[in-house]
Amino acid sequence: METTKKNLREPIVCVLGHVDHGKTTLLDDIRGTTVAKKEAGGITQKIGATEIDKNTLETNIKNYFKNIQVTIPGLLFIDTPGHVAFANMRSMGGALADIAILVIDVNEGLKPQTIESIDVLKKYKTPFIIAANKIDMIPYFVSSKDTSFKETLSKQRKEYVDFLDEKIYKIINDLYVKGISSDRYDRITDFTKSFAIVPISAKLNIGVPDILMVLTGLAQRFLEEHIQFESKSTRGSVIEIKKEGSLGTTLDTILYQGVLHKGDKIALNTIAGPAVTKVKAIIATGKKGMVEKESIKSAAGIRILITDKLDVLSGTSIIAIKGGKTDAAFNELINES
Ligand code: GTP
Ligand code: NA
Ligand code: MG
Repeated sequence: METTKKNLREPIVCVLGHVDHGKTTLLDDIRGTTVAKKEAGGITQKIGATEIDKNTLETNIKNYFKNIQVTIPGLLFIDTPGHVAFANMRSMGGALADIAILVIDVNEGLKPQTIESIDVLKKYKTPFIIAANKIDMIPYFVSSKDTSFKETLSKQRKEYVDFLDEKIYKIINDLYVKGISSDRYDRITDFTKSFAIVPISAKLNIGVPDILMVLTGLAQRFLEEHIQFESKSTRGSVIEIKKEGSLGTTLDTILYQGVLHKGDKIALNTIAGPAVTKVKAIIATGKKGMVEKESIKSAAGIRILITDKLDVLSGTSIIAIKGGKTDAAFNELINES
């Protein structure tokens, strides 16, 4: 029986971790494309958003795990770079996230940017799961692909299972030293006491159903209040700015609250201080590529075209202005910069 009236938005899931531990490859699995292969040198330089809708989420989970009812409208993933130079982007991703995936190469264990990512997640009190990636590189691996971790594990010999346990225990110990109690997700009985480790191979698309199942379970059990859809005010975070010549300026934005409409006035930070501009167009990624929208509901990754040529500050919040009241928004923006 439904006891509460649910009006949930997609939880924003940030993917964090050390360089080359497999964040983008994992997101490739989730969206069924190959972005990691197209990146120059395989190094992620910016953050982008990947959406998975409720139906896709449900199908992916139900193929492997029978008894989970999906009540969230989907998940919105944000990729971040692991390179040492992009601490600001990891921090921004961590600040935006409702929940996160910390990707750790199971063979390398905790590295400097793994630890930095943990510190970001602690700072913002963001709940997270750990994806122990590259389990295909562990000795005695019996080939498997496009399936769950559970299914893959059932095919493995004792030698492999022992090696895997050894690597996972090393991660559990190293996390414990950092003040984090964790265990392999299928061994956890109380998810309020331990962080879940999901062994995966992003390269062979193993473990994605497990990841989606654990994330969905955690979001539905612990984040419901946090992800209530808020229509009172409309807010987003700008992750990338491009000046498009005579066209104006585009802002790649994660909309995390409310509904944004074409024609809305928005306040944001510029080099010269807070400013107000107008939304000329909203561009979203649909099933068949980029589409223009009259309005869009959070959470969403969108491109906003603004009418004015402004030197917008990267990372600025955008706050929709209703009824011409700009003072409160400007005060907030001043505090942020
Ligand atoms: P940055 O964005 O630069 O921090 O890297 P990333 O964490 O996004 O890593 P990326 O997905 O680009 O993967 C780095 C390399 O590891 C690529 O060559 C991938 O093919 C490889 N890789 C990723 N996942 C796996 C895996 O599960 N197994 C193996 N063997 N290789 C993997
Ligand atoms: Na990489
Ligand atoms: Mg990457």
